[in-house]
Amino acid sequence: MAIKKILVEPNKLLRQVSQPVAEVDKQIQKIMDDMLETMYSANGIGLAAIQIGVPKNLIVIDLLTKEKKKNPMFFVNPKIIKKSSKMSKYEEGCLSIPNLFAEVQRPSECEIEYLDYEGNKTSLKATGLLATCIQHEMDHLKGILFIDYLSKLKRDIILKKLSKQNLEQKRLVI
Ligand code: NI
Repeated sequence: MAIKKILVEPNKLLRQVSQPVAEVDKQIQKIMDDMLETMYSANGIGLAAIQIGVPKNLIVIDLLTKEKKKNPMFFVNPKIIKKSSKMSKYEEGCLSIPNLFAEVQRPSECEIEYLDYEGNKTSLKATGLLATCIQHEMDHLKGILFIDYLSKLKRDIILKKLSKQNLEQKRLVI
C-alpha cells in the first residue's frame, strides 16, 4: 500500500468523468488499497479514485464510527438504483477542498448496486451519514464537487478561501 497525493480543487482532473472497471483484478485491488491508506492518512471518511488522479469508478469509505474501529468499504462501479424523496442536510467537507465545509441537501436514503473488493455483485441500502457519503463520492465519479450545489455566493466564498489556502501551501513547499 502507498499513500498517494490527493488532488485539490481547482484541478481539471477532478472534473473528469470516471470510467467503469472491466474486471476487479489485482491491479484494481491495489488501487483501492492505496486509496484506503491515503484516505486514512488524511483523516477522511470517503475517497474516490479520481481524487488520486485515477479516472475509474472506484470508491472507498470508512465512517470510522464505533470507537474508531476500522470498517473499510469498497465500491466498484457503484450505481444508485433507488433514492428516497425524503431529503436530509449534512455539513459536508471533501479531501479535495480541505478544511472547508458547507451544508448540502441530498436524498436521506439510497440503494446502490456495486461490485465488492472481490468482484462480487452486491447491493446495499444506505441511510444517514453513509447515504450522504456514498452520494458525495459517486458525484466525484461524474466530476461533481459538493460546492457545485451551493449558491454562487457561498461557492465563491469557499473558492476564495481555498485559493488562499493553496497559496499558503505553496509557500510552505518553497
Ligand atoms: Ni469529496
